[in-house]
Amino acid sequence: MSKLKVLVTRRWPEACELRLRELFDLSINADDHPMSKDELRAALRDYDAVLPTVTDALDAEVLSVEPMRCRILGNFGVGFNHIDLEAARNRGLTVTNTPDVLTDCTADIAMLLMLAVARRGGEGEREVRAGKWIGWRPNHLVGTKVTGKTLGLIGFGRIARAMAKKAHFGFDMPIIFFDPYPPAQEVIDAFGATRCGTIEEVLERADFVALHCPGSKENRHLINAERLARMRPNAYLINTARGDVVDNQALIDALRTRQIRGAGLDVFEGEPRLNPGFLELDNAVLFPHLGSATEETRIAMGMRVIDNLTAFFDGRTPGDKVI
Ligand code: DGY
Repeated sequence: MSKLKVLVTRRWPEACELRLRELFDLSINADDHPMSKDELRAALRDYDAVLPTVTDALDAEVLSVEPMRCRILGNFGVGFNHIDLEAARNRGLTVTNTPDVLTDCTADIAMLLMLAVARRGGEGEREVRAGKWIGWRPNHLVGTKVTGKTLGLIGFGRIARAMAKKAHFGFDMPIIFFDPYPPAQEVIDAFGATRCGTIEEVLERADFVALHCPGSKENRHLINAERLARMRPNAYLINTARGDVVDNQALIDALRTRQIRGAGLDVFEGEPRLNPGFLELDNAVLFPHLGSATEETRIAMGMRVIDNLTAFFDGRTPGDKVI
């Protein structure tokens, strides 16, 4: 029997590509370029499975392709806001993602951003590399203490809880959160966390606000100028969720006028082309979407997609079925 045709839209860790090649008739986007809409449409027309990432906009127009050969989108990533789920459902597609395996590494990046922006790590690194460091002095690059400060989480899902664990037990940080679908009280109690009734309450009480809500139409610009104005003047915003959860221009304005003290950002509206206003800000630490970027996690993500794919083609329900 001939193998099923599978297209991987971006390069994956070698071990995962090798495994895919054993199982399927595999095509790889060899030079790892972001695929165009036409290329994605051709992929859906010509392959039994397409394995996209966050850089592939699978919108209603792309998903309207005829004829559609593809039966499953095995997304390499936990977030799926780049896939129009309603259009995918209408086309009879199954969509899977890769939760769990990237939880800790993404929470680690949120911690890294929090520490880097509070302790001015980005500024210090740039100063040393530019040969501008003139030596130790009491008032040099003085930042904010992190230990013991209040961490406010918007969203209290897996990644938020992993961050809460590190921050609460590692850095003695009281945890407050807002989530419209909170977990059971015993889960909340395990982090000594306090549930807030509104986003505004978190913004008004937290020294560090970390965003852990999904990217979606509903959450677009969840953090806008009005909400940024509710944050404490010495507070910091950390975003490892999706860029468009924050009104990026409003954030730049709030950082420029020191309405808030700083921001640590792993994701941006329209990435990788970020608003140039960010580049002028010393009080922003900017990462290129590194949340899940460790060898261990990226391999685990690929293997998770492969498990979902093999389950689907064996007639079983994939473990990470989104629709
Ligand atoms: C995720 O898994 O959602 C990461 O942000 C990469 O897409």
